[in-house]
Amino acid sequence: MITYLQAEANPQRNTGTIRLYDEAAFEGMRRACQLTARCLDELAELVAPGVPTQVIDDFVLRFAMDNGALPATLNYRGYMKSVCTSINHVVCHGIPSEKPLREGDIVNIDVTLIVDGFYGDSSRMYPVGKIKRAAERLCEITYHSLMLAIDEVRPGNRLGDIGAAIQDYAEAERCSVVRDFCGHGVGKIFHDAPNILHYGRRGEGAELRPGMIFTIEPMINLGRPHVKVLSDGWTAVTRDRSLTAQYEHTVGVTETGCEVFTFSPGGLDTPGLVFDNKNI
Ligand code: MF3
Ligand code: CO
Ligand code: CO
Repeated sequence: MITYLQAEANPQRNTGTIRLYDEAAFEGMRRACQLTARCLDELAELVAPGVPTQVIDDFVLRFAMDNGALPATLNYRGYMKSVCTSINHVVCHGIPSEKPLREGDIVNIDVTLIVDGFYGDSSRMYPVGKIKRAAERLCEITYHSLMLAIDEVRPGNRLGDIGAAIQDYAEAERCSVVRDFCGHGVGKIFHDAPNILHYGRRGEGAELRPGMIFTIEPMINLGRPHVKVLSDGWTAVTRDRSLTAQYEHTVGVTETGCEVFTFSPGGLDTPGLVFDNKNI
């Protein structure tokens, strides 16, 4: 059974019920998410061949500190970095290191900043120098799948409509959807109910209601959907080592549709990439 509750009544932890946030919380989320989006905007200038991903981590920690925020991943369940940097066949939770980015890489940078107790969670793909058309096409498909999912977010629709929008489109493009990781309720808790699956069937799952806040963060592979987690306990890679991409937004359900909290203030939602939509 699905239950819903007013978020302010029970702020502590993931209890499995879907929280409904009020307008004051939406305002808090705007601030956290816009700071996260501005951080992702500024990272566009930093990403280049030869730059170690640790430099990205250093930047995000400094950016957070300078802006009265905290990186949510730092010390989260034993994760010791301020950001995730997932390169090429790394699906998610790539750990920043001294290894430099290389020309032709694609890297997902996933930032979550906490501002006044609200979590702003978003990620984008960044091309490193000039990338292959196949990599560009995968980023384009992944971004478009997220936008199609966002189009489904309105009261009365169901979680299955979100998953189906992503799956139907990605699979029609001969890509696959990762099933081992999902989006999540977010707000005053980092990872909360409900799980937002990136596959599913229309009309199934919990009904969307005004006040719900969650992430949508599809991971789309050029090859098979299967992933494995490396021995560091975090880094998730495609089993067939095929290229993978991810974009993530934090959204809130409104009376009439949805608000995307993490849109780029600088028009850099797809940094370094101009999608001509000819595949769409
Ligand atoms: N930001 C990721 C998400 O989208 C979570 C990263 S948790 C970490 O949910 F511990 F891996 F950093
Ligand atoms: Co997330
Ligand atoms: Co994230």
